[in-house]
Amino acid sequence: MIRVAIVTVSDSCAKGQRADLSGPAISERLPRSGFEVLEKTVVPDDRESIVTELMRLSNQAGTDLVLTTGGTGLGPRDITPEATASVCERMVPGLAELMRLEGLKQTPNAVLSRAVCGVRHDTLIVNLPGSVKAVRECLEAILNLLPHAIEMMHGGGHERKDT
Ligand code: MTE
Repeated sequence: MIRVAIVTVSDSCAKGQRADLSGPAISERLPRSGFEVLEKTVVPDDRESIVTELMRLSNQAGTDLVLTTGGTGLGPRDITPEATASVCERMVPGLAELMRLEGLKQTPNAVLSRAVCGVRHDTLIVNLPGSVKAVRECLEAILNLLPHAIEMMHGGGHERKDT
């Protein structure tokens, strides 16, 4: 069972001016692929708030995966990728590349997401764009890869070829 925390990054959702639809879209999709949602939080598009939340979640034992949604575009307040990269020890560019590649089959706007993915301690952090449509499409692009990615991150997976 892969244990997941979901972080919605949105000024308007954090202020309660808009309902968070993307966080629930993620948490609804995950259980049928064998993921367990541990918690779901909302933070504003503020670098410090995002960094603090990502550090809290990746410092606590048992969070395999953090999925963020929102703040990956070119808007003046969009800062999720920079906040994510600043807490990660190692980046996993291929996951974000695959989301953009698959997204291109749906809309040219897919390339406008600056989403990044990376590892901090024992937690894989994946940025998803903000809209429900984009969240659903990006999740479908990478969901099947995540169990193996997380197994490798925890030291399992491939047998070493150099022994
Ligand atoms: N990716 C997919 N698969 N489908 C989409 O509809 N929308 C794009 C892009 N990625 C989209 C997508 C759009 S319109 C934007 S502006 C960027 O994600 C950034 O979104 P965000 O700022 O809400 O994170």
